[in-house]
This record gives sequence, structure tokens and C-alpha cells, in this order.
Amino acid sequence: MSYVEVSNVFQSYGTRPILERVSVTVEKGEFISIVGASGCGKSTFLRLLLAQERPTRGEIRIDGAPPAREPDRDRGVVFQRYSVFPHMTVRDNLVAAEALGANAAGYLFGQASRDARARADLALERIGLAHVAAQYPAALSGGMQQRLAIAQALAAKPKILLLDEPFGALDPGTRLKMHDFLRDMRAETGMTVFMVTHDLSEGFKLGDRVLVFDKIRWDPQNPEAYGATITYDFDARVALPPPAMLEEKTHVH
Ligand SMILES: Nc1ncnc2c1ncn2[C@@H]1O[C@H](COP(=O)(O)OP(=O)(O)OP(=O)(O)O)[C@@H](O)[C@H]1O
Ligand SMILES: [Mg+2]
Repeated sequence: MSYVEVSNVFQSYGTRPILERVSVTVEKGEFISIVGASGCGKSTFLRLLLAQERPTRGEIRIDGAPPAREPDRDRGVVFQRYSVFPHMTVRDNLVAAEALGANAAGYLFGQASRDARARADLALERIGLAHVAAQYPAALSGGMQQRLAIAQALAAKPKILLLDEPFGALDPGTRLKMHDFLRDMRAETGMTVFMVTHDLSEGFKLGDRVLVFDKIRWDPQNPEAYGATITYDFDARVALPPPAMLEEKTHVH
């Protein structure tokens, strides 16, 4: 049994198919990058893993069971549109996230609280936000808020981390810093990661595997007639794919 098992999943909105016949298995600790044209259903796939939606057909199992519908501590997420707690300082955003990961009440006391603050400060140092630890998110640029959202998702030490274009808003230098941070956190926690990206080289750099979502069937008269599926599953640990193949199958922007 694999850690994540997606079996013949279809997802439609109304009569419009978005995903069809999606099957994939993922082992614990794997880092899965997901690429594909805009609108092909990548975020939809993440929502299915998060159980925010139930598939129209097919089955998803995580650790042997259908994923819980309520958000739980096992799955951390950074959405395309990031979210942080606006009423808390940058540091407290991380402390709260860790506390939520630690227990349902979401509070830490005494030494545990001091330790969490120290870890928050360390994380802020690593992602270059130490100087704004006492500020509120509204005072931060979009890129800085995005970095905070990523650190926040990681602070709860989820078993599965779902990242939807997490580095899209960042400049190249910051992006590299975040790559290192994510790699370190993953090495420390052994978490399983699904990351949607529009940057192929990023997908291959960070991922163990790169899944390409695309439509197999295409009706020029009716472009919405068919959904997308996983057309390639590259092992990013051994070899790079022929570039032409990827050019053809993805629309990178
Ligand atoms: N709740 C919904 N109801 C109806 N249609 C939806 C819903 N959510 C998504 N869609 C449609 O499903 C398609 C796939 O959307 P999705 O956001 O999964 O694509 P994506 O691959 O993440 O695209 P992008 O790369 O632009 O983020 C889109 O055409 C979108 O309009
Ligand atoms: Mg998306």
C-alpha cells in the first residue's frame, strides 16, 4: 500500500470535466512537482487531496483512509492566494501555526511557548524576515507575506504539505533562499510534498518526480469537452526529460 493512492479520479464542475482518469501513487516522504497548462486542474487536484472537494468519481486514500473532510494537522497548505493571520505579528503567526500543529487547542504554555518563539525566530532568520518579526502582515510586501505563509505551513510540521505555486511572487534570489529552506525542512521532517509550479526547472530541482497534467483528448470545436489527466510521470532523481517533450506538453509562463 502506498502512502497516497489516487485511483481513477474524475472531477467535473456541472457538466464540464476538469480531471479524468487520474491515477497515481506516492510514497511517504516523496516530493511531487506538478506542472501543466493554466486551467488544466492542478489546483483542483490539490483541493481533492485536501478533501475540500470530493471527486465526482474514483477514490483518494491517504495512509489507507479517505482524507478527512475537516482540515487537520496532517495536511499543511499554501494556496495560490496566500493567507496569514492579519491580527497577529509576524512572529506570532509562526508561533500560532506551530501551536495549532501541536494540539487542537492551539495554545502553548511556559517552556513550550518559549521554545516555539525561539524556533519562530530561527525560521524568520532563515527566510530573511527577522527584522519584521514584531510587525503585522499588512506592513509586509506580497513576497514577504508569501514567505511567511510558507514558513507558517511548515511550522505546524504537517505530514503532507500542499504548495500551490508557492514561489510565484518572489524575486529570483528570495526564491533560491526559499528552496533551501523548504529542502531543509523536508529533510528534517520527512514530510510528503505536492507542489504546483509553472517553473519546470524548479519542479525538477526540488521534486523527486514531476507529474505533467494535460489533456489526452482534445476537440477543437469544443475545448472544454474533455478533462486533463497525468500524461507524464518523470523520475527527477535520475534524468532530465528530453526538453522537446516538455515544451510540447506544458505551457510555461
Ligand atoms: N468550484 C469551481 N466551480 C466551477 N469551475 C471551477 C471551480 N474551480 C475551478 N474551476 C474551473 O476548473 C478549471 C481548472 O481550475 P484549476 O484552478 O484547478 O486550474 P489550474 O491548473 O490550477 O490553473 P492555474 O495554473 O491557472 O492556477 C478552470 O477552468 C476553473 O475555471
Ligand atoms: Mg491553480
